[in-house]
Amino acid sequence: MFGPLAALVLALATSASAFVPHHNAHHRRHNGIGKATYVPRSTSYKLAERYEGKNFFDGWDFFTGSDPTHGNVNFVDGDDASKLAYVQDDGTVVLAVDDFSDVAAGGNRNSIRITTKKSWERGLFIADIYAMPHGCGVWPAYWSLGNGKDWPNAGEIDIIEGVNLNSQNQITLHSGPGCLLDKAADALSNLLGTTCESSNGNNAGCAWQQKGNNTFGHLFNMQAGGVWAHTVESDAISVWFFDRDNIPADITNQQPDPSTWGTPDALFPNTQCDISSHFLAQSLIFDITLCGDWAGPAYSGSSCPGTCSQAIANASNFNLAKWMIGSVSVYQ
Ligand SMILES: *[C@@H]1O[C@H](CO)[C@@H](O)[C@H](O)[C@H]1NC(C)=O
Ligand SMILES: *[C@@H]1O[C@H](CO)[C@@H](O)[C@H](O)[C@H]1NC(C)=O
Repeated sequence: MFGPLAALVLALATSASAFVPHHNAHHRRHNGIGKATYVPRSTSYKLAERYEGKNFFDGWDFFTGSDPTHGNVNFVDGDDASKLAYVQDDGTVVLAVDDFSDVAAGGNRNSIRITTKKSWERGLFIADIYAMPHGCGVWPAYWSLGNGKDWPNAGEIDIIEGVNLNSQNQITLHSGPGCLLDKAADALSNLLGTTCESSNGNNAGCAWQQKGNNTFGHLFNMQAGGVWAHTVESDAISVWFFDRDNIPADITNQQPDPSTWGTPDALFPNTQCDISSHFLAQSLIFDITLCGDWAGPAYSGSSCPGTCSQAIANASNFNLAKWMIGSVSVYQ
């Protein structure tokens, strides 16, 4: 997902823009319509899938390949995953890193990466998250990957992503050649980069960094999390964030209408990128990796002790490296 260059960009952007006040949903509704260069058309979205509670895992496959981002993890399934991927009695879905085994510095910890069995060419996707993994060396992501062509030519959409002790979420697209993020796009976040084209040598992608310090890590979890809603349509990929206290009623009621949500937190219009040809049918993914191509190089710029390799050996470092998911809904 991210290379060292992206890590550097992020480190600079983070230090320059920390502690910017968070826009709440009320504010957003009033400053969005009118000045926005893009207002989503009112699409009548209908619930197609809802992943939650006891049956959550029926709709997902466990990925057990080696981590393409070179993290210090073994992605496990079956019995090895039973203590790391489960549904609590209250219905909350937990995905965790092993925080109970002894692992040498620089070794691999067991972790989880899951992918929806289904994929969608377009639609509205809503993830209700109570807590996200964070901590020294930790690199979680909620994202989607296109099917049918090799990476990055089927497109990758990163909705939640960050590393180490970051507090601001980053939203990124990765694509094949010929896709740019239009600088004129009106969104609430800080614009980081406009080149969506990615390769193994340069995979920063085009990205927005959310302003609120409650959009990633500790403060996100302290407010009992929130919701990311994103639409993938031929005219734009749009992402909205709502903290727990500001979730619109139409989302809670399962009758979501993005045209009422105002300016999105991140916007990737089709003006300099043909969305349909660069982003093929997407499967949703949750994973947690450790160190690797982003958390590793960024580690020395975080306020974490020692090195990322040393952090792997400290099991208690991963006590909070857990996704706690209420539901994931797909509307078509
Ligand atoms: C987070 O942002 C809020 C709103 O701008 C601010 O009041 C608060 O002090 C910040 N908290 C931390 C820990 O930086
Ligand atoms: C181990 O991790 C915990 C939790 O992050 C931290 O408080 C502690 O300082 C770490 N110990 C070492 C030796 O790095």
